[in-house]
Amino acid sequence: MAKRMLRTPLCDMLGIEYPILSAGMGPSLIGEKTGAPVELVVAVSEAGGLGVLGGAGYTVEGMREAIREIRKLTGRPFGVDVLLPAATVAAGDAPAESARQIPLADALNALPAAHREWLQKVKDELGLPDTEAVISGGTTTSRPHAAVEACIEEGVPLFCAGLGNPGFMVEAAHAAGMKVLGISGNAKNAGRIAQSGADLVVAQGHEAGGHTGRIGSMALWPQAIDAAAPTPVLAAGGIGDGRGLAAALAMGCVGVWVGTRFLCSQEGGALDIQKQAIVNAGDEDTRRTTIYTGKTSRATYNRFHDLWEESGLEPLRFPVQVVLASAVVDMFNRAGNVEYVGPFAGQVAGLIDDVKPAARIVEEMVEEAADILTRKLPETVKVA
Ligand SMILES: Cc1cc2nc3c(=O)[nH]c(=O)nc-3n(C[C@H](O)[C@H](O)[C@H](O)COP(=O)(O)O)c2cc1C
Repeated sequence: MAKRMLRTPLCDMLGIEYPILSAGMGPSLIGEKTGAPVELVVAVSEAGGLGVLGGAGYTVEGMREAIREIRKLTGRPFGVDVLLPAATVAAGDAPAESARQIPLADALNALPAAHREWLQKVKDELGLPDTEAVISGGTTTSRPHAAVEACIEEGVPLFCAGLGNPGFMVEAAHAAGMKVLGISGNAKNAGRIAQSGADLVVAQGHEAGGHTGRIGSMALWPQAIDAAAPTPVLAAGGIGDGRGLAAALAMGCVGVWVGTRFLCSQEGGALDIQKQAIVNAGDEDTRRTTIYTGKTSRATYNRFHDLWEESGLEPLRFPVQVVLASAVVDMFNRAGNVEYVGPFAGQVAGLIDDVKPAARIVEEMVEEAADILTRKLPETVKVA
């Protein structure tokens, strides 16, 4: 069958064929390096969409190498996603020397006594082994200014700010010929990001995987479009096939930003066991929780969620909570207690029942959305 054409102004802005971006996904804690690795970026960009590297788990130098690797493998446009938490951006970068591998057990010593005691209690009661994992200190998340500088030096075509407002770097990015995208979970922040000069805003609904807000996609997208106008908005949260793409375009979004569906692709960075958890999940099998990062994030439901709720502890500030959660997840992984671990994933997990190549996901999404817009809607909706 001939390839379908499905274009929006986003395609002209970014120099791509289809208005589909794979989300920049960081790691689901210990066990994987990033949810959106080089292979996924290249596969999506080569398929006519735009792949975005999940820069959050990399050191700045590691991210730079990944960017160069992408350039070797594709001549097409791509993006890089970095978390820009407002507090870290204001406080300044951690020192460059912090970018080294640290035994997780050592990092735990810096946590408050109450959290360490709880960890010990969980370990004793469930007979878990010590963690032997190492974590990367000085990732892009703790060195946001250096990360931004590296992206600008490398001339990344699309810079994506996963958390926080990218306004402070827009001018320098534009001077380097780059486009800038910011992500928001409510209309107010969508407006702020647009007003700070970003070229694109992603409006990400409550149903999304990873960090997520309180407003459902259906309610959020049109309100974000109004708040960000005339800056174009991409839809995120709950999009897993061509029906989601067609709905987002019908609402006035210029394209889609898709996470969970691409995480569960052959090139997605999740471990096989995590992809299987997404395939097995139904629509009710994800929960929002603060256990993983200290901010509300959505993951497939597992018994770690109950343990944390029963603890009565307050989450530590982002990203310190990640140290605690990584230790617990690593202990459960090593003990083979799969009922206590699960990846970040959105409610759309219920729609996903296979792990397939990312290029096929792009093709099928385009094919289905094009069929809805050109045939199904005119056949079923009579308009006078
Ligand atoms: C495993 C995982 C990791 C994520 N990590 C990040 C991240 O590092 N930066 C970011 O901007 N968004 C992150 N997100 C959110 C995605 O960018 C995206 O907004 C979300 O997945 C869209 O909803 P969906 O999962 O329903 O497609 C992550 C999502 C998942 C599933």
